Amino acid sequence: MTQHFVVIGSPIVHSKSPQIHQVFATQVSLDISYQRQYCPDDEGSFTAVIEAFFHGGGAGANVTVPFKQMAYAYCQVHGGLSEHAKIAGAVNTLLLNRALLDNGAPIVDAIYGDNTDGRGLVTHISSLGWVLTGARVAIIGAGGAARGVILPLIEAGITQLTVANRTVSKAQTLATELSAASDKISACDIEICATSDLRGTFDIIINATSIGLTDATLPLSTDLQTRYAYDMMYGRALPFLEHFAARGAQTSEGYGMLIHQAALSFERWTGHTINVEQAILALGNKS
Ligand code: ATR
Repeated sequence: MTQHFVVIGSPIVHSKSPQIHQVFATQVSLDISYQRQYCPDDEGSFTAVIEAFFHGGGAGANVTVPFKQMAYAYCQVHGGLSEHAKIAGAVNTLLLNRALLDNGAPIVDAIYGDNTDGRGLVTHISSLGWVLTGARVAIIGAGGAARGVILPLIEAGITQLTVANRTVSKAQTLATELSAASDKISACDIEICATSDLRGTFDIIINATSIGLTDATLPLSTDLQTRYAYDMMYGRALPFLEHFAARGAQTSEGYGMLIHQAALSFERWTGHTINVEQAILALGNKS
């Protein structure tokens, strides 16, 4: 029997998720349908879309921009949240909470939220051979993308995490909020990281800002050193990576993170483990 999946967003027309999940399904011989679902950017529409989807027999949904926080708020009062979703404050994966359904809960009160973005980053970084255990890591950015990857990085055994942001108060708020999860987090502004004491101290620098969507560039000092540089954006020229590649760092864009987070959602929904390297080859793209 065909299992139905959907990715909900606005805009959604360019989402690669349908092709990615079809490749996964082919790999494990599952019959699935995976569609893009546009939704107007308001809570009422979002609620109507996800409830109609699960009432209609949908097996699982991905949620993308701008609905990740809305999905979090919905699941918080309905079917529950995973620890990763709670810490991230955002949901990218929806599924039905079978335990609640078995206890007689209606479908709308059993829609459960997880977040696979951060674990997707960690599994991609690990697959590149970049060692996270004991690593000193800097994240640039303090928005939703940064928040979503912090817990999985800590779980991977990093020893130090510096959150650097243009608006330093946002980095400080994030560090304070996540201090319950770890005492390894500190905050600074981009200029401090770029120019002074922290020079040369990082093993991995991750760009989690949205700057890649614009023509602007981050104020990175020529003195700032890292062994590895990762940009969560992909599919475009990334000056952040060019900056560090020119200084001898190994670099990666975020395409592999996209595939790994998708694989984790797929595994959560279907119980099938995906060979991600094989899937990337089948998709004909780079990691
Ligand atoms: P996302 O969900 O992608 O994280 P967001 O929550 O809007 O989006 O966060 C965007 C991040 O990119 C923020 O950390 C933002 O910095 P500010 O908090 O100072 O706004 C960062 N960002 C966006 N444009 C930037 C720029 N031109 N220079 C530096 N940082 C930028």
